[in-house]
Amino acid sequence: MQLIKQIPSLQTQVKAWHLAGETVAFVPTMGNLHSGHFALIERARQTGTKVIASIFVNPAQFDRAEDLANYPVTLDADCAALAQLGTDVVFAPSAQAMYPSGALRTKVEVPGISDVLEGEKRSGHFIGVATVVNKLFNLVQPDIAVFGAKDFQQLLVIRQMVNDLNMNISIEAVTAVRDEDGLAKSSRNGYLSATERKIAPVLHQILQQTAQRVIALGAQGATAYQAVQQEMLGKLAQAGFTAEYLEVRRNTDLQPPQVGDEELVLLVSAWLGKARLIDNLQVLLREGEII
Ligand code: PAF
Repeated sequence: MQLIKQIPSLQTQVKAWHLAGETVAFVPTMGNLHSGHFALIERARQTGTKVIASIFVNPAQFDRAEDLANYPVTLDADCAALAQLGTDVVFAPSAQAMYPSGALRTKVEVPGISDVLEGEKRSGHFIGVATVVNKLFNLVQPDIAVFGAKDFQQLLVIRQMVNDLNMNISIEAVTAVRDEDGLAKSSRNGYLSATERKIAPVLHQILQQTAQRVIALGAQGATAYQAVQQEMLGKLAQAGFTAEYLEVRRNTDLQPPQVGDEELVLLVSAWLGKARLIDNLQVLLREGEII
């Protein structure tokens, strides 16, 4: 496995692979890798003949300086794990290489889908994500890019960007990887104390309870789900969370469902101590399926 830090070296390698007819699958990350990321690499290996992972803690997507300053950097351990998984190249550029002028100048904005939920709570976050992913796509020139469905809204933002800008990249989504007790894998779980870690799986349990209640109600539209949302927010507060939102939305555009809408997603964001946790479950009413 090659560790590449310089943009021109990456471009030379990618060009050679494309000329040789290789299919490049790309997994963008911010490092501090866990089994959720490893599942993305595995999917990349199944879909491409060459796999590139990037590790770049993108300052432009952090709305709180403190969060950026505390973000764990574990490059050596990450590279060892990626090598074991058969990654061909790790691209780990410096902030200076990615943003030579020191700040975001040209920005990519994906309106609509970016303006709700996480976009409301984290000002400018999705501009930072869309811009850096756009830059990484330009550098890596992937045929396929793999994202986790744990960050469901991010996945929809990227899909819309790729569609709106006619990028010839196939976006693959991988379902969230969970610990045995249901807690979705996330770098932010590392901020939980031992006591909080025991409470954290309640987030997934509440989503499952919400999903069952929504299935029982059927495709009744947003107003019909409001009482369930309020009840579940109350349960989260009782368990010790400070919830930011728990919402039933359409899984295509994250708008409140109309009567008859059957493809839904339940999204939650809640603080537990210093950790801001997000999770989601898709509910397909026709199939009675929870994903
Ligand atoms: O999901 C992440 O880790 C980041 O948002 C991404 C896609 C690597 C962009 O910085």
